[in-house]
Parts: sequence; structure tokens; C-alpha cells
Amino acid sequence: MNILLLGGTGTAGRSTLPVLLAAGHTVSVHVRSDLAAARLQPLGVAAIRFDAEDPEALRSVLRGQDAVIDHRVALPPTSRSILPGGWRSFQHLRGPALGLLVDTMIEAGVPRLVRDLVTFVYEDGGDAWLDEASPASARGAMAANLLAEAHVSRLTAAGGEGVVLRCGLFYGPDDRMSVETVRLARRGAALLLGSDAAWHSALHTSDVGTAVLAALEVPPGVYNVVDDEPLRRCELVALLAKSAGRRRLHRPPGLMVPLAGAAGRVQARSHRISNQRFREATGWRPRVSSRQDGWPAVFAALR
Ligand SMILES: NC(=O)c1ccc[n+]([C@@H]2O[C@H](COP(=O)([O-])OP(=O)(O)OC[C@H]3O[C@@H](n4cnc5c(N)ncnc54)[C@H](OP(=O)(O)O)[C@@H]3O)[C@@H](O)[C@H]2O)c1
Repeated sequence: MNILLLGGTGTAGRSTLPVLLAAGHTVSVHVRSDLAAARLQPLGVAAIRFDAEDPEALRSVLRGQDAVIDHRVALPPTSRSILPGGWRSFQHLRGPALGLLVDTMIEAGVPRLVRDLVTFVYEDGGDAWLDEASPASARGAMAANLLAEAHVSRLTAAGGEGVVLRCGLFYGPDDRMSVETVRLARRGAALLLGSDAAWHSALHTSDVGTAVLAALEVPPGVYNVVDDEPLRRCELVALLAKSAGRRRLHRPPGLMVPLAGAAGRVQARSHRISNQRFREATGWRPRVSSRQDGWPAVFAALR
């Protein structure tokens, strides 16, 4: 397939690109700087610098593509995440920028879009397993996740094939947040919100690329992409402590949850998420099926 990859220079993109190339796809990667283009040169992919919000430029780049994979995201730095307007770029990329992409794909006849989003949209499920039919809700900036899903389904409604991957929280040696998690754990802290009993679902970064590859063939719709073993917060904290060689880790008090804004509130929900639908539809299996194996290896890699 001829594939346009947006957001290909980030964590998810670094996982996706080699998998697509190994599968024989021809990939054009959107870049925003000459430095990013130079970094991609050794891989033998076309790095294209263009304004993805200019309809004319987008139309021209989409010509001849069979699919688009959109990994774009702009998260605010922690210091700005509770300020009004802190999430503006995040909302823009999931709202108008994605809307423009979908409109232009429909016009250009590019059939398939794979958009990775997040599992944070599910309501708190307590101890129940959550699948794609479980209730979803999002407020404030987090509502942009559901708006993005609505844009993707517009492509399907117009005769195309829109696929949303609701991914669990990424972790891996090449993920910025994981590097911070390891650093903090070694100092005796874990910035995990939510009660001890609440469930938490994740995905190793090395499994993002294979999921995206599988999503190029799956029937359109919404799929959970998480590893096989959700953990309770208390299990996760114990695992991080053990991996860091600490007896215990200090966690933020519960009163931090409302202070952490919309993003903090969704992170505190209990999310015991099932990947069964995606596994059955594609045969995909996570290479790292549990954080019980994954986190110790991340700590070792970041020694
Ligand atoms: N990280 C997680 O834990 C996690 C969990 C579940 C789902 N996801 C989802 O996975 C996707 C990818 O996340 P990630 O962790 O790979 O993010 P990332 O490492 O921060 O990469 C973000 C990518 O988006 C690009 N980008 C940022 N602002 C842009 C803009 N205004 N216009 C065009 N491109 C822009 C960046 O390009 P530059 O290199 O030029 O800045 C980069 O390629 C996101 O949708 C995210 O919500 C992430």
C-alpha cells in the first residue's frame, strides 16, 4: 500500500514505521523540520515537509495514497496542563485538523484512515471488563478524543474505512513519560492517580506498530489496543517499586485528582480493558503481554 504517515516522528511513529516498511508498504512521512527529514533519510522513506492544515497541500500529498495513519498529538507540558487554553493544540489536532484530513480524504478518494487515540474515554468500570460497547464519556479537553472518533466514523459513513485504535497508556524505553516514571521510581515516587483497587491498562511501545499494521486490514470501527493483563494501581505501584529496587513508592494524595484537571480525572478511572475484539478481528497479539515482564525490562534498559 502507499501510506501517508502523520505524527510519524514521535513514540508511536518510531514503532510503526519499521513495521510498515518490513511489511513492504511504501511510506511517506510528514515532517515539520529539516532535522526530522534528515533523521528519516537512512530508512529510505520519503519525508515530506508540507503544511498539513493547508487543504491544497494536503490534497496534493494525498493523491495516490491508499491509506493514512495519523499519530499526531500535542500534549501540553505538565506545568501548563491545568491552565485554561493549555490543551488548545491537543484539541485542535483532534478537532479541526483531523476534520480537514477526513474531508480531504473523502474528496480525494483515499479509503482508509487509522487513527490511534486513547482508552481514557471509558467511564469508570470498577472491576468489570470494558469492551468497545462499554459506556464512554469525556469532559473538558478530553472530549476531543470522542470528537476525533466522530471524525473518523464520518469517513466510514462516506464509504471509506475509518479505524480508531483506543490504545492503553504507552510504556517502553523510548517513551518520554516512561523515562520520567523510571527516574521518579528510583527516587521513591510514582505519579499514579486513582485508588489502589482501580484497574489500569497499558501497551508496550513495541506493540504499537504491529497493531497499526493489523489495523490496515481490519473492518472499520473502534478497537481497544492494550496488553493482555490490566493491573490494579496497587499492583502497578508494587511492580514499579520492585523494578526500581525500592520497598515502596510515595504516591500523590487523592485530593490531587480534582486538581489535575480533566486529564487527571480520566486517568484516575478504573479501566480493566479487553483487547478481545481486536485480537479476534486481526489475530494480533501483543509481544509484551504483561507489564510484569515489560517494566523490569524497561528499568534494565534505562539503567
Ligand atoms: N503516549 C501514550 O501513552 C499514549 C497512549 C495511548 C494513546 N496515545 C496516542 O498515540 C498517538 C501518538 O502518541 P505519541 O506518544 O507517539 O506522541 P508523541 O511522541 O508526542 O508524538 C507526537 C507526534 O505528533 C506530531 N505533532 C505534534 N504537533 C503537531 C502539529 N501541530 N502538526 C503536526 N504534527 C504534530 C509530532 O511531530 P514533531 O516530531 O514534529 O513534533 C510527533 O510526530 C496520539 O494520538 C496519542 O494520543 C498515546
